[in-house]
Amino acid sequence: MSKRYKKREWKKQMALRLDYNNMLYGRVAEGQGYTEAKIGEYKRFAGVAYEKVMAKKGEGWLGWCDLPFNQEEIVQEINEVAKDVRKRAKAFVVLGIGGSALGPIAVFQSLCHLHYNELTQKERKGPKFYVEDNVDPERMNALLDIIDVENTVFNVITKSGATSETMTQYLVIFDLLKKKLGDKAKDNVIATTSSKKGNLIKLAKQEGFKAFYIPDGVGGRFSELCPVGLLPAAVLGIDIAEMLAGAAYMDKVCSEKSLYKNPALISALLSYIAMKDGKNISVMMPYSDGLKYFADWYCQLWAESLGKEADNDGNLVRVGQTPVKSLGVTDQHSQVQLYTEGPFDKVITFLAVDKYRSEVVIPQGCEGIPDVNFLCGHTMNELITAERVATEFALCQKGRINKTIYLPEINAYTVGELIYFFEMETAFTGEMLNINAYDQPGVENGKNATFALLGRKGYEGKKNELDSAPAKDPKFII
Ligand code: PA5
Repeated sequence: MSKRYKKREWKKQMALRLDYNNMLYGRVAEGQGYTEAKIGEYKRFAGVAYEKVMAKKGEGWLGWCDLPFNQEEIVQEINEVAKDVRKRAKAFVVLGIGGSALGPIAVFQSLCHLHYNELTQKERKGPKFYVEDNVDPERMNALLDIIDVENTVFNVITKSGATSETMTQYLVIFDLLKKKLGDKAKDNVIATTSSKKGNLIKLAKQEGFKAFYIPDGVGGRFSELCPVGLLPAAVLGIDIAEMLAGAAYMDKVCSEKSLYKNPALISALLSYIAMKDGKNISVMMPYSDGLKYFADWYCQLWAESLGKEADNDGNLVRVGQTPVKSLGVTDQHSQVQLYTEGPFDKVITFLAVDKYRSEVVIPQGCEGIPDVNFLCGHTMNELITAERVATEFALCQKGRINKTIYLPEINAYTVGELIYFFEMETAFTGEMLNINAYDQPGVENGKNATFALLGRKGYEGKKNELDSAPAKDPKFII
C-alpha cells in the first residue's frame, strides 16, 4: 500500500470542501435561505453542541471518535486475516443488517469496480462480495444458487448478537456449512461482535470462529470505521489505513472551535435552522454511481439518530428530518421535478466529485442533427458536472436551499473523510436538538412484536397485546 496519506501535499489536495452558499438568503429566490444575522442568532446552539460533543468525545456512545486513532494493531490483524481470505475464498458474504451492513455496502460501491463481481478472479484479485441484509427467503436461496458455501467466507456482523435477521441467516448458513464441511465449518465463519455481551460472542467461543470486536462505545450506525467496515474493506483490497487517515484528518477539521471553520458544525447548524423553518426532508444526492449507496448509509445515520419522540429532558418533541436518497443525474428524470416545484420542505445536499476515476469522450457521429451534435467532442465527465451545476442553478432560481460537498476524487482517504464528516454532523445536530442520537427506542416495539409472533419465551404479554388489537375490517381490503 502506498502510504500517500502520509504526505502533507497529497492530503491537502484530498481535503473535502463544503459549499453552503445556496443555504444563504440572497443566493436563492423566493426569500428563502438564511441571513448571516439569522445564523448569528442561532450560533449559541452550535456553541453548546460543540462543547458537549468535544467533552464527550471518546466516551460513552462517542467511542467512535477514537476509531481513527486507536486501531493500529487491529488494522494489522485485519489485513492479515483479509490476506488469507483473499487467497482461499471465492466469495465473501457479509451477514448483517442496518449499521452492520450499510457501511460495508457503501464502501464497496465507492471503492471497487462498479461491476466488481462480474470481473474475472484474476482481475478482481479477491473473492466476490455480497452483503445479505434481509431475510427474504428468495434472496437467500438466490445467493445459495450462485455461491459454493465450501469456498465462501461468511462474516457474521452483529453487535448485539440478538438481531433476529442476522441470527437467522447465521443459522441457515452454519447448518449448511456443517453438512458440507463437518468440523472444518468454523473456518468459513468470521464473527464481528461485542467482545463482552450478546449471543454471537458465545457462539464464536463455542464453535471456534475467528472473532473481531466492536468496541463498547460504537453503536451500529457509527461502526463503519471499526472491524464492522474495516474487515470487508480489507478483503476487497481497500487500504483501510488510508480510510482511517481520512477520518483522522476530518476529526481535526471538525474539532475546530470556530463555527465558520468547522464544516460539520456549520452544516449541522444550517440543518437545525432548516428544521426549525419546516424543512423536514433532507435529500442526499450524489452525482456519482460510486457514492450511490452512501446515500443509504447516510439515511440510516440521519433517521435513526435524529428521529426522536422525546428530548433529553423527557419533553415530547418529535423531531427529525426525513432523509431521502437520490442519484444524480438519474433522479433528475424522476424526483427533481418535486424538489423544484413541490413544497418548501427540503434541504438538498449534493455530493460532487472533482475528478472521476474514468473519462469517456463522447464521439462525433451526429453532424446532421444539431440537437444531438452539441454533445459530441465533450466528455461524459463534463456532462455529469454540467447537469449537477445546472440542477443546482435551477433549484436556486426556485428558492430551494441546497449545499454541496466536493470530493477531490473518490478514494479510501476521501471516503474516510466523508464517513467521519457525517458522523460528526449527526453528533452536533443531535446535541442542538437536545436528543440522544445513539439510541433507537422506536424500533423496539416492532422487534418485540416479531419475537411474540414467533413464540419467543418472555414475550407472552406482547402476544396478548397483538391478539387483542382490533381485527382488520375486510370491507377495507379490496
Ligand atoms: O444503528 C444501530 O444500532 C442499528 O441500526 C443496528 O446496527 C442494527 O439494528 C443491527 O444491530 P446489531 O449489530 O446488533 O445486529
